[in-house]
Amino acid sequence: MTPAMPLAPERAASLAGEVDALFLFILAVTGVFAVGIWIALIFLAVRYRRRSETDRPPEIHGSLVLELAWTIVPLLLMSVMFVWGAKVYFHMNRPPDDAMTVSVVGKRWMWKLQHPTGQREINELHVPLGRAVKLVITSEDAIHSFFVPAFRIKKDAVPGRYNVAWFRATKVGSYHIFCAEYCGTEHSRMTGRVVVMEPDAYQTWLAGGPTPESPVAAGEKLFTELNCITCHRPDSAGRGPVLAGIFGRKVLLAGGDTVVADDAYVRESIVNPAAKVVGGYQPVMPTYQGQVSEEQLMSLVAYIQSLQVPSEAKPGTDGRQSRP
Ligand code: CUA
Repeated sequence: MTPAMPLAPERAASLAGEVDALFLFILAVTGVFAVGIWIALIFLAVRYRRRSETDRPPEIHGSLVLELAWTIVPLLLMSVMFVWGAKVYFHMNRPPDDAMTVSVVGKRWMWKLQHPTGQREINELHVPLGRAVKLVITSEDAIHSFFVPAFRIKKDAVPGRYNVAWFRATKVGSYHIFCAEYCGTEHSRMTGRVVVMEPDAYQTWLAGGPTPESPVAAGEKLFTELNCITCHRPDSAGRGPVLAGIFGRKVLLAGGDTVVADDAYVRESIVNPAAKVVGGYQPVMPTYQGQVSEEQLMSLVAYIQSLQVPSEAKPGTDGRQSRP
């Protein structure tokens, strides 16, 4: 049984042990030094107290051994913290390739989540045990922060930006979601839960309820509705670049720079098309800022990510097409 007031949240994801081990190491090192310094302080204050008005202590002229020791020992300890911390940091920030992507949109004052198969949830996220889950996090309004203490993940939800976090749940159960960034009146009530289920139970859960539209299908529909299709044609005759196969590749820009066509670039190109124009094209695309919601943007990104290169017309690695 867990005590009423546990010292640390339970560990329910693969990263939790790593984070805790590092945290406990830093706590132990700082604890030993803090206690040591206090003991030395009290001992020395008593031992070398001034005993009379005429007390003149001898002058001491440094000690090379002591100075080297108090430089080298902390340096080594800090180096361990740095290298270990960097290792955990990289692990936390690199979701495995086989992770399922869940989109997370913060909005005053709720969390809106969507599964890759299209199911939407509010303030609740059902996930299968043992499967890596990548969260693509953004916000519609203020800055929020998606925090699941039992998984040791916390990531800001920032308007206009996609932040990524991931976890692999290791224990069936229900775990708190908190908003960890003050975002207004009901910030403290912007909570929810992650429900970790056995993979079979998760499949059953997915199958229950109406069959939703997947983000890719929703994105494809929007792509037509917003008339993106008139300029971004599958052949190279459109006024905009061909989008098939562009995702994840380097794109050569008009200024000569290159950029990787990732989630963030695709999003930016929809809301602020003039920011990074692909080389060989005119900045003729209108902005879609305010016309599409964050969830619709995520659907469009998912759709563009899903577009494969047709076998006969492979674009170059820079994503540019030869033009007449
Ligand atoms: Cu959302 Cu605090």
